[in-house]
Amino acid sequence: MRPLTVAVPKGRVTRSLVDLFGRAGLDASELLADDRRLIRRSRDGQLAFLLLKPDDVPTYVEYGAADLGVCGRDVLFERRYDLLEPLDLGIGRCRMVVAGPTGQVAPAAPRVATKYVRSATDHFAQRGIVAEIIFVQGSVELAPLTGLAHVIVDLVETGSTLRENGLEERETVREVSTVLVANRAQFKLRHAQVRELVAALGACVRAASAQAFTQ
Ligand code: PRP
Repeated sequence: MRPLTVAVPKGRVTRSLVDLFGRAGLDASELLADDRRLIRRSRDGQLAFLLLKPDDVPTYVEYGAADLGVCGRDVLFERRYDLLEPLDLGIGRCRMVVAGPTGQVAPAAPRVATKYVRSATDHFAQRGIVAEIIFVQGSVELAPLTGLAHVIVDLVETGSTLRENGLEERETVREVSTVLVANRAQFKLRHAQVRELVAALGACVRAASAQAFTQ
């Protein structure tokens, strides 16, 4: 049987993903190899990981180029994908926030720089604020420092990027975490294999959250 194909995002979630898979008895250690291969296989040959830009993970899974994917909720909020979400992996926890220069008040109709156009548009519309949303791909914190925008909507994990750029958090837009997504057809066709993987990961997620609760 061909391996289960799992689309994974390149970036800061890799370490915790490899740890979580490891605790579930699934070998994802090849994801840590420092080379340019875009397909990495588990030692037992049961899993093939596709290394992707985070925004591309749901696309690969929706079209069936991958059976499963590991994806931040921030990405899923931005577009409508036809996917199953069998499990919140409990990793990659962060917040999507509105932030601006420390101590400054934004105008009533602010310009907002963000990669998250849809989330930002909805957030300001729900508050009855007429905001001009400006799309930028990264280094979003630069926008208020250069006059491109008054505020930003971006992800905050430790808060150090905001602090080091003289910005402060104003409002939370959404809580974000990393979820397992599945292709609808493959979820049925390969149910036994997928169910086993989801059950193994789910047990580890629940154990980690119970441990965090008692600490
Ligand atoms: C993310 C996010 C912030 C930063 C927040 O960027 O866009 O810039 O992390 O993290 P912190 O609160 O721990 O400082 P990332 O490093 O993923 O790179 P990017 O700017 O290319 O999106």
